[in-house]
Amino acid sequence: ASAVYDDDMAVSELVTSSLPMETRFPPFQLRQLGGFWFPEAILPGVTAAHARFEPRPSDVFLASFPKSGTTWMKALAFAVAHRADHPPRSPGHPLRHRNPHDCVKFLEEPLAVDGGMLAALPSPRVIATHLPYSLLPGRVVAGGGSGVRIVYICRDPKDALVSTWLFAKKVVAAAAARDGDDGDDGKPPPPPTTFEEAFELFCDGRCTAGPQWRHVADYWEANQKLPDKVLFLRYEEMLMDPVANVRKLAEFMGCAFSGEEEAAGVARDIVDLCSIDALKNMEVNKNGTQEYVKNESFFRKGVAGDWSNYMTPAMAKRLDMIVEEAVQGRAEAT
Ligand code: A3P
Repeated sequence: ASAVYDDDMAVSELVTSSLPMETRFPPFQLRQLGGFWFPEAILPGVTAAHARFEPRPSDVFLASFPKSGTTWMKALAFAVAHRADHPPRSPGHPLRHRNPHDCVKFLEEPLAVDGGMLAALPSPRVIATHLPYSLLPGRVVAGGGSGVRIVYICRDPKDALVSTWLFAKKVVAAAAARDGDDGDDGKPPPPPTTFEEAFELFCDGRCTAGPQWRHVADYWEANQKLPDKVLFLRYEEMLMDPVANVRKLAEFMGCAFSGEEEAAGVARDIVDLCSIDALKNMEVNKNGTQEYVKNESFFRKGVAGDWSNYMTPAMAKRLDMIVEEAVQGRAEAT
């Protein structure tokens, strides 16, 4: 199950309507591909990535299960990669004027490959993805010899679920406010999924990029096999010691902080620039929007353990068990 999906032809020729569908977690109508669920709308982007994306050896990929710290990683990696041109304290720093999702694009978003957005970027490129390791294009994965480095960020699934559910509600509300429907078909917006429903679907792996535990375990195994090519970071550890993790990130990206930069506190400056409070208070993140949701929706609490405000201890135990059993089952199978 964890084999690399290196059959680019098969993905590039896939017929969406033939894939299993899940509609119970609006706003995203999901389709199942390679054992994972994805919003139908991104499948053309996945196809394009498999058919036409050209990796460069200097590329850095930021991979994550949704709502696990993607926005934070985008900001940090962008600030690290471009610190020579954009010192983190400079008033004109792009992150002070653009949302992290406008600074770093997803491989699978509609215009990334076919719109030439990624091809137009200067090297070194920082590119994000929610695709699991097994569904990355064969040319990208570490074993494929492309030289590409992959940074994975992992988060407690209970917090990722809570964050996903709250975010989905905001996306549905934004669509309803925008045009009075769900943005697709002129019908009234679907009723929001209750937390209990979202929990059941999540436990079944039926959510964007789910099952979450398989997403994490695939990257974990890749990190164990190829530690120079795949870095595995944890959201909770980054909260505890962001500076040490940014150092690790820079080193892995091939641009460790110099003695001079260390003395000048550049790592700390990057952490401060990318902190949730700093980003939340920037004008662009207070009032700007992405195509389908307000920028402010990407910055909520940014803490570990908020799940306890939404989940009963029994629910938490059940999800923990599902993850534990799945991970155990894999370990025994290998
Ligand atoms: P919460 O909803 O638990 O607060 P993603 O970026 O993958 O969509 O994940 C969103 C989660 O990351 C949200 O979690 C959000 O608040 C948190 N987040 C966003 N920016 C952050 C930052 N700079 N530092 C820490 N957490 C951040």
